[in-house]
Formats: sequence, structure tokens, C-alpha cells
Amino acid sequence: MTDEVRTFAPMAVLIDGNALAAEIRAEVQAEVAQLRSEMGIVPGLNLLLVGEDPASAVYVRNKGKDCEKVGITSTIMRLPAGASEQEVLDVVQAWNADPAVHGILVQLPLPKHIDEHRVINAISPLKDVDGFHPQSAGKVMIGLDGFIPCTPFGVLEMLRRYNIETSGKHAVVVGRSNIVGKPLSILLAQKRKPGNTTVTICHTGTPNIAEYTRMADILISAVGSHGVITKDHVKPGAVVIDVGINRITLPDGTHKLVGDVLFDEVEPLAQAITPVPGGVGPMTRAMLLRNTLKAALIAGGKQ
Ligand code: GUN
Repeated sequence: MTDEVRTFAPMAVLIDGNALAAEIRAEVQAEVAQLRSEMGIVPGLNLLLVGEDPASAVYVRNKGKDCEKVGITSTIMRLPAGASEQEVLDVVQAWNADPAVHGILVQLPLPKHIDEHRVINAISPLKDVDGFHPQSAGKVMIGLDGFIPCTPFGVLEMLRRYNIETSGKHAVVVGRSNIVGKPLSILLAQKRKPGNTTVTICHTGTPNIAEYTRMADILISAVGSHGVITKDHVKPGAVVIDVGINRITLPDGTHKLVGDVLFDEVEPLAQAITPVPGGVGPMTRAMLLRNTLKAALIAGGKQ
């Protein structure tokens, strides 16, 4: 007989993005129906896809399907990869002027010859459901009500709906993108709920990321590289939010979607953790619906 010593790690709470997103879709669907019956407004989202990037095409198609599920009208316009910047700007301007279009989404990345900033700048801030316009970013910065980019918004909703205490905690955000890392860091630091955290941002200029991430009560990785967060990066009892969506090739040649976090080795350490897929991804999609509803409410003078 061997003297086997076992330590049983408590199971981390699995933060179920699919279930939360379904809950949010149901809420949006009810509000869309109410807006329609009370004011005759049917929220409309127009999506522009430039070029033939297969991943972008899937994303856009899925966003359109999500709209259908909740009663939001969606229109997808496709332009060839060779479309000029002016053609893209013309589409955006036509949609800005169309009262049936409440939300405008230009799928990124755009072909290299088109200036993304110029295109984002051209979107009416009242229809900026991605929250990428400088006016939206500025509002987030100073705590005014505006369009919050969908991924940070989704992460906040996850924390809120799972009752994860953030006030007084230390959040470490890995990644400083305009879409995720920067706005999420600002939002978490604000005096709101969830929020009121002390925030550290790590990025490619941080010499030893683990030194910081090991101090995190709430660790958020938004890098886009599988394996950047290992068990050596995580303090026992931390809440781990994985924003990364990476497609890896397995030894047998098949593909798999994985996050930034090495889930199997980090999960036993964590208090709560998001899976990939089924974590932040569905929440991003759900918050786009919420932002589109908000845009329609603004157009109807209800916000
Ligand atoms: N490309 C990758 N993610 C996004 C997003 O959230 N919005 C847009 N417009 N493009 C993207």
C-alpha cells in the first residue's frame, strides 16, 4: 500500500458567458418589443464588411443572426477588398443620414490602404454601437454615459452578474488595446459598480508580467496569444477573465479555439474563471445588441 497524499483543489466557479449572454438577449428582446409597441421603433443595425477575410465574415454573419434573435433589423453590406476609402466613407455617411439605421458597425480590420481612424471618426457618435469613436472613448474616460465598447462592457456585466466584489481590489489588465485593455482599465478604476479597483496595466513593455499578475485579485488577459497566462502568473483565489480568442492547430491537424490562459493549470488555483470558448466572446456579442437598443432609444428620445 502506498501512502498517497492528495490535495483536492476546490473547483473554481466557471463564469458561463453563454448563459449570461442568453439572459441579456432575453432582456434586450423584451425591451425591443416594448419600444416597437410603444413608439413604433424597430432598432436597426447596419454592418459593413470590406474584403473577404473569412474570420471577419463569420463574425459579421453571427452578429446579424444575433440581431434576428431579438427583433433587431440587421443589414450587412459587403464591399470588395479593393474598395476605396472614399467608398467606405460614403456608405458610413449614407447610414449616418438614414433614420432607420440606429447602429453602425464597420468590421475591423480594414484593408491596409484604408485609414481605420478616419472611418471610425466618420461614424455618427449617436450610432457608434462599437464604442470606438473618440467621443465615445472620451465619455468612458470621464465617466459620462455613452457607448462602452462591447468587450469591456461584457466583462463588467460578467463581474456584476456573478456578484464579484471589485471595490478595493487590485485588477491587473494585460494588454493595452484601444478596444479592450485601455477602456476596461479606465472603467474598472472608476467609482462605479463594478469598479473602484486599483488597476495595473501590463503590456509588451512590461519586463516581468508575472511579478504584477501574481498581485491580482482580478486578472484580465486581453493579449491574443495562447499561454501568456500560466499557473505561475496567478495568485491563489484570483478571479481570472480570459478575453483572448486564439485558434491553434493540434498535432492531428485539427483546430481548436483557446484563450490566453492555460485553463487546465490555472483553473484549480482560481476562485472564478471564464472558459474559451463560452466566456467573454458571447458577452461581447450580447453587449452589441444592448448598445444597438441604446442607440434606438436615443433616436426615440428615450435616453
Ligand atoms: N474586429 C474584431 N472585433 C471587432 C469589434 O468588436 N468590432 C468591430 N467593428 N470589428 C472588430
